[in-house]
Amino acid sequence: VSDAGDPSVSSVLVGSGAGAYPVLVGEGLVAHLPDLLREYAPAHRYAVVSDDNVAALYGEDAVDRCRRDGMTADLFSFPHGEASKTREQWSILTDRMLAAGLGRDAAMVALGGGVTGDLAGFVAATYLRGIPLVQVPTSMVAMVDASVGGKTGVDVRAGKNLVGAFHAPRVVLADPETTRTLPLEERAQGLAEAVKHGAILDDAYFDRLGEEAGPLMEGDVPATRSAVLRSVQIKARVVSEDERESGLRQILNFGHTLGHAIEAAASWSIGHGSAVAAGMVLEARLGEALGVTEAGTARRVTDTLTRFGLGTVPRGVVDEAAVLGFLGADKKARRGQPRYVLLERVGAVESTRGWSRDVPHAAVVALLAEAFGAETAADGVTT
Ligand SMILES: NC(=O)c1ccc[n+]([C@@H]2O[C@H](COP(=O)([O-])OP(=O)(O)OC[C@H]3O[C@@H](n4cnc5c(N)ncnc54)[C@H](O)[C@@H]3O)[C@@H](O)[C@H]2O)c1
Ligand SMILES: [Zn+2]
Repeated sequence: VSDAGDPSVSSVLVGSGAGAYPVLVGEGLVAHLPDLLREYAPAHRYAVVSDDNVAALYGEDAVDRCRRDGMTADLFSFPHGEASKTREQWSILTDRMLAAGLGRDAAMVALGGGVTGDLAGFVAATYLRGIPLVQVPTSMVAMVDASVGGKTGVDVRAGKNLVGAFHAPRVVLADPETTRTLPLEERAQGLAEAVKHGAILDDAYFDRLGEEAGPLMEGDVPATRSAVLRSVQIKARVVSEDERESGLRQILNFGHTLGHAIEAAASWSIGHGSAVAAGMVLEARLGEALGVTEAGTARRVTDTLTRFGLGTVPRGVVDEAAVLGFLGADKKARRGQPRYVLLERVGAVESTRGWSRDVPHAAVVALLAEAFGAETAADGVTT
């Protein structure tokens, strides 16, 4: 298939400083990888990078298919998990590609979740000063979020995603069929970001996600395709306007100021989506407490996230002092003051003071005291 003629494949254009690129969403894209690579990223050789899980599920087949089609393709796999998103793994991959003799006429195919997209994307951004990249996201996180927007990079000891580059792909191929093999927990992590897309820009999408939570969590392919498409449209619109996050792109950080602090306070023992979901609930409550967010918004956000098994504040796993401690260390803090994206209501971000703002520290302290202390009080347990 080529995207044009096939009604089951949708195309969303993403603007970028390096030129616009399409995100194709539809079943069968991975099966038609050879044709799509020829069309969107013609090259003499292809380096397909996947983690070991995705290599076994899709990577080996994809490379075989390319070879049968007369293309030169090699699979480079690495151990799955965030622990591989490092400079060390970047070194290993670049050295292996150099040893295999891949030149400037090669292209990179990042086939996998967000770890693969970020790591292989960073390799593509830097290998021989940059080779073409094709993103083939296979996790929900990668489809609705990581594969769109051109950010690539690795984690370092000082923090996550601190070393990287913008490297726009030639095309993103999001095939919802591949999410059928995704563990339930991983599916929910991505759907948290989808709920965020509805919360910041699309009330109707937000409601639809709540209604379709069952099929989405069961891996229903049409429901997944429709959510991926809407999320990609929303993220594409935002990053097309503001690729480098000086303005509008900040709204994608709704739920992330407190979410990141919770994630860090939990020493990354809970998933990013789970932490962000708790962050969205808390930031909606914060907005309501400040009179910025329409009353009832936090209730709606909580109700929708609950359907995905998300949105509970991880009491017992983290405590409020630790969350407060990490807030000051936020990467996006200005002069040590964390910034918050607050909703006006579901589907709209409050923006009279810019896309993000600082809020009185006392309001955050009171919010966390209530969120992390309420259960103890209700149980009548004194500490
Ligand atoms: N660049 C960006 O803009 C951006 C945005 C959001 C997240 N991220 C990054 O993405 C990463 C998280 O992504 P993730 O949650 O996809 O992690 P991941 O890539 O580790 O994938 C999660 C797990 O699912 C497995 N998996 C992936 N696809 C599968 C499939 N189809 N079937 C079965 N198993 C599959 C993987 O092997 C892995 O074990 C983080 O490092 C985060 O920083 C980047
Ligand atoms: Zn996120």
